[in-house]
Amino acid sequence: MKTISIICQKGGVGKTTTVVNLATTFSTLGYKTLILDLDPQGNVSTYLNYDKNDNNDSNAINLLEKKSNIIPGNIKENLDILSSNTQISKFNDEKIIGGSKLQFAFQNNKFEKYDLIIIDTPPTMSSLVQEALAVSDFYMIPAKPEFLAVEGVAQAMDFAKKSVSSIHNTNPLFLGVLLNQIDKRRSSYLEFVSELEYLLADKLFTTKISQTTEIADGPFYAKTVIDFKDDSKSKVEYFDLANEILKKVGLNEEITELSDNRH
Ligand SMILES: Nc1ncnc2c1ncn2[C@@H]1O[C@H](COP(=O)(O)OP(=O)(O)O)[C@@H](O)[C@H]1O
Ligand SMILES: [Mg+2]
Repeated sequence: MKTISIICQKGGVGKTTTVVNLATTFSTLGYKTLILDLDPQGNVSTYLNYDKNDNNDSNAINLLEKKSNIIPGNIKENLDILSSNTQISKFNDEKIIGGSKLQFAFQNNKFEKYDLIIIDTPPTMSSLVQEALAVSDFYMIPAKPEFLAVEGVAQAMDFAKKSVSSIHNTNPLFLGVLLNQIDKRRSSYLEFVSELEYLLADKLFTTKISQTTEIADGPFYAKTVIDFKDDSKSKVEYFDLANEILKKVGLNEEITELSDNRH
């Protein structure tokens, strides 16, 4: 089981989009995947057309209340969800004193059956993000290729570092920065990428996600990249990204399905 948090205190950078499209891609490839939503906005559920107001076992709030025998909801084959809604915000400002609630919950629930757990987080520097990091093996930061992004990424990295050092028994590895919503036609793009490569070296994902109307319209139709045509640019990019992540986290069975179509 590998747990990956997607974090950034800036909203609109693509955290939820990354969580949803990566998780559906992993599950399609046969990896048992759980999405854990810790954002009070509950956008993951809306995206996947899952009822977040149903306060049943599948609400992530149960984890923070340290309940055991929590039963995630099912989205599709190999894909389960622990959803979120505004009620989870009561944990947003609680200091992690005497240990992380999520660490406790992870020890008392049977999540080992999952190959991957992907955590969506709120656009804040808050306890909910710290809780996510407390149970993560890895974390990654999505960023838009724009002028202020470098600053946003630096702040997110700093927050993660400080959080990790203040929580017991956790040492998640920084997987890297994922550039999302790129538009290669913009003149500043290449300059921006070379600056980020210089600053981040191998902590910048090789795969970059283009800005497409297909992805922008996805949530309206509860469609993720796996519903797109096989030659869709976004679908190919997400399969490449999934492949890159699987290698980085040590689940490195090669994905050949889509790459084959391209040669
Ligand atoms: N690659 C992309 N192409 C087009 N639209 C995108 C892309 N990534 C994200 N978006 C859109 O940008 C907005 C913000 O994305 P979202 O994932 O909600 O960000 P966050 O969770 O960081 O706040 C959403 O409307 C989403 O549909
Ligand atoms: Mg979001």
